[in-house]
Amino acid sequence: MSLEKKIEKLKAKHAQVVAAGGEARVKKQREGGKLTARERVAAFLDEGSFEEMDALMVHRNPGVEKIPGDGVVTGIGRVDGRPVAIFAQDFTVFGGSLSEAYAKKICKVMDLAMKVGCPVIGLNDSGGARIQEGVVSLGGYADIFLRNTLASGVIPQISLIMGPCAGGAVYSPAITDFITMVKGTSYMFVTGPDVIKTVTHEEVTKEELGGAHTHAAKSGVAQFVCASDLAALAHTRELLSFLPSNNLGEAPRRASKREMPLENPDLDKVVPDDPSKPYDIRDIIKGVVDDAHFFEVAEAFAPNLVVGFARIDGRSIGIVANQPAYYAGVLDIASSEKGARFVRFCDAFNIPLITFEDVPGFLPGVTQEHGGIIRHGAKLLYAFCEATVPKITVITRKAYGGAYCVMASKHIRTDFNFAYPTAEIAVMGAEGAMNVLHGKAIAAAPDPLAKKAELVAEYNEKFANPYIAAEFGFIDEVILPRETRLKLVKALAFLDTKRESTPPKKHGNIPL
Ligand code: HXC
Repeated sequence: MSLEKKIEKLKAKHAQVVAAGGEARVKKQREGGKLTARERVAAFLDEGSFEEMDALMVHRNPGVEKIPGDGVVTGIGRVDGRPVAIFAQDFTVFGGSLSEAYAKKICKVMDLAMKVGCPVIGLNDSGGARIQEGVVSLGGYADIFLRNTLASGVIPQISLIMGPCAGGAVYSPAITDFITMVKGTSYMFVTGPDVIKTVTHEEVTKEELGGAHTHAAKSGVAQFVCASDLAALAHTRELLSFLPSNNLGEAPRRASKREMPLENPDLDKVVPDDPSKPYDIRDIIKGVVDDAHFFEVAEAFAPNLVVGFARIDGRSIGIVANQPAYYAGVLDIASSEKGARFVRFCDAFNIPLITFEDVPGFLPGVTQEHGGIIRHGAKLLYAFCEATVPKITVITRKAYGGAYCVMASKHIRTDFNFAYPTAEIAVMGAEGAMNVLHGKAIAAAPDPLAKKAELVAEYNEKFANPYIAAEFGFIDEVILPRETRLKLVKALAFLDTKRESTPPKKHGNIPL
């Protein structure tokens, strides 16, 4: 064959690849407000950096149309100059469903990512296992699940849900570190509304069952919701900027955009004088981090605990903070799980943890107890105990009971523990303590209310302050709120070379 003919053949193959599932399906994809798989990859990666792999690979299923690429676009590229591996499922080809060949393509880029130590980004838009393929498709999913699990804690894995995703197409993302959903066009469910109606007779819409709001606010499956494909892709680029490429590296340092004073007098006014008054912990976070920029994770789920990324003096940090503006910042089942997962992510990827603490304790109640607050709360405790990254805690107000221990207290290997003069550190709040210690005396007093008020005042004078903890060395320094950034900058710089380890073991047994 002449060289011209060979070039013609290559061009024809290329045209077939780009045509994907055909004009009609591409049109439907666009009408649904969605980009195509290739457009998503191009929008996500640094311009011109994409190197596609296996564009000509096809399935081996006799009698079924063969479409080059087989429904998934895979390859390598760069984000802000750093390498990433990527796959983008193409809903226009067999509904983005997964065949044996398709799974092999994904496994190939995952294996490459593990070899070089770079993140894997999955753009998911798939009806799950390809029905025509049977067990080889299921096997293909299992091959991916195994790689997701082996890569966990070694390289960041980020999933974007950009269409209706069912079956295996949701279990692989579930093992990854972060899930972003696109509002109005993405769904995640193990089985769709039709199957549910048949099996349980429940009627539910796709949106209610597995839409972005459902998973961000109710199930906690998704950490982020974005308004469009483009917004989700840009958001993920930013997420990557806070992360190292792998567990042996460190996140890139980035200078802040504007000069940030080390002292911020505004912070002195955030915590109210009245200990029962709420305030927004984000006002403190934004008052200490670079550019007042906080990249919140799982904002809609368990808002009584705020977690997310930021930078201090250019260093990427993970923040875990009780939120007094929501349920007084109490720890419950959902917030314990949310916090534990975030702490473990940061610990796996060398991201220092800063904890802001204002917590009245664990949420009491039958629902919480029967739901297993003991084992779920223990997850957060375990995660903080286990973490060996630099850990710094700032107690802004309440640090009561078990929650004092849990929220990165000195006792569980926290490097620097600061407290504001407004801190209250005790076994429990004054009201509760009075009932336990002096319930009978109060009831017998001629004026029970006056007696109680007197005892509460005594208790608060004695316990509701940071000084006893400071006397024991459990608090390293009582600081003014305005000094918080200064103290954190110095502490983080000192901890740059921190090395701490845990006893050798196969793995621990976190109370799942
Ligand atoms: C083969 C599939 C497919 C699948 C969709 N298609 N899902 N082909 N295998 N799993 C095809 C359709 O036949 C159709 O082809 C095209 O993709 C678009 O699908 P529509 O149904 O028209 O789209 P839509 O109305 O948007 O609905 C999308 C959907 C629905 C919600 C994903 O297609 C659906 O429910 N699919 C089945 C989901 C499922 O149960 N998958 C298996 C899960 S089991 P044409 O030719 O008309 O364009 C699994 C096991 C893994 O994954 C193990 C986990 C542990």
